[in-house]
Amino acid sequence: MEQLTGKVAFITGGASGIGLGMAKAFLAEGMKVSLADWSDEHIAKARAQLAGNNAVFFVKANVANRDSLQAAVDETLAHFGKIHVLCNNAGVNGGGTAASPDFDDWDKAMAVNLGGVVNGTKIVAPIIRAQGEGGHIVNTSSMAGIVPLPGLAAYSTAKYAVRGFSESLRMQLAPKGIGVSCLFPGATRTALVPLPEDDPSIDEANAPEFLKTLWDAMRGAIDPEDTGRMVVDAIKANRFYIFTNREFLDEVRQRHREIEDAFPTEEPTPGRVKFENMRAEQVRNLMAPGNRPVPKEDEADMVLDLGSKSPAGGQ
Ligand SMILES: NC(=O)c1ccc[n+]([C@@H]2O[C@H](COP(=O)([O-])OP(=O)(O)OC[C@H]3O[C@@H](n4cnc5c(N)ncnc54)[C@H](O)[C@@H]3O)[C@@H](O)[C@H]2O)c1
Repeated sequence: MEQLTGKVAFITGGASGIGLGMAKAFLAEGMKVSLADWSDEHIAKARAQLAGNNAVFFVKANVANRDSLQAAVDETLAHFGKIHVLCNNAGVNGGGTAASPDFDDWDKAMAVNLGGVVNGTKIVAPIIRAQGEGGHIVNTSSMAGIVPLPGLAAYSTAKYAVRGFSESLRMQLAPKGIGVSCLFPGATRTALVPLPEDDPSIDEANAPEFLKTLWDAMRGAIDPEDTGRMVVDAIKANRFYIFTNREFLDEVRQRHREIEDAFPTEEPTPGRVKFENMRAEQVRNLMAPGNRPVPKEDEADMVLDLGSKSPAGGQ
């Protein structure tokens, strides 16, 4: 989408941090924004910051609850008439580790950090498609979806999944004139990681070294409004990857080398090569510049039902 003026964005987790940063950058482009958030406190603060701006609409929604999200989308459509840009951004810390016996925490974190992205897309993408005016979806992952932190298994699992979901969606929606980007923030100054100076209940002196180092990183962290401007540029250029924090580049390079080095050396059979060439060509075609149409409409949906069945008793 090269032209954003007059378009409508629906941003989940829009009343704080990165969501609010995107909202401000969109408003500066002449867009209208619907900010869907679960926190009354964040909505009240954001409402005060953006008071008097009639291009802003606030709506309470829980992204983990499909009825709640659908109602927020319906209210947005009743207010602005359309949605062109969807930002699935709401996220929470926590969720426990892979080894913890607590399933409840894990399920809740996955329901917001991954479920919220899927719910938002399944509810809003058909609306953008039906309008026929093009559009863009921005899903917020994290650097933890590229280089995970130990002890944050639920968060990293969800953020890796957001990346996979977004890559698949990108291919599926490109021929429909809808772009997809995935945002990978590193340390960004938001309410997600409160600092001791923001929260008097934090015992800084006795905190583990890891947290102290994280707080130091957060003190020099990226301003969410800068992140918002990077998102605007990516939407205009239809760019998939949005990285905000350069300090991870060396580790990402090392990881890519490790992946390449792990490949077997024996040559594949001609049949396997042919299949891979066909798959790669299909992907290139789907993501061709200008989102040119693929030959057969059906192919664009990439619904590859290979006839596999869930085992009996599976869900
Ligand atoms: N801040 C960082 O350093 C950082 C780094 C990597 C990724 N992220 C990701 O960026 C996104 C935005 O986080 P942020 O840093 O701006 O934090 P934030 O806490 O400032 O903002 C997140 C907003 O999401 C809302 N929210 C939480 N659960 C919700 C739900 N179930 N339904 C609706 N709204 C909900 C919160 O009320 C809050 O207003 C998250 O997905 C987070 O994982 C942030």
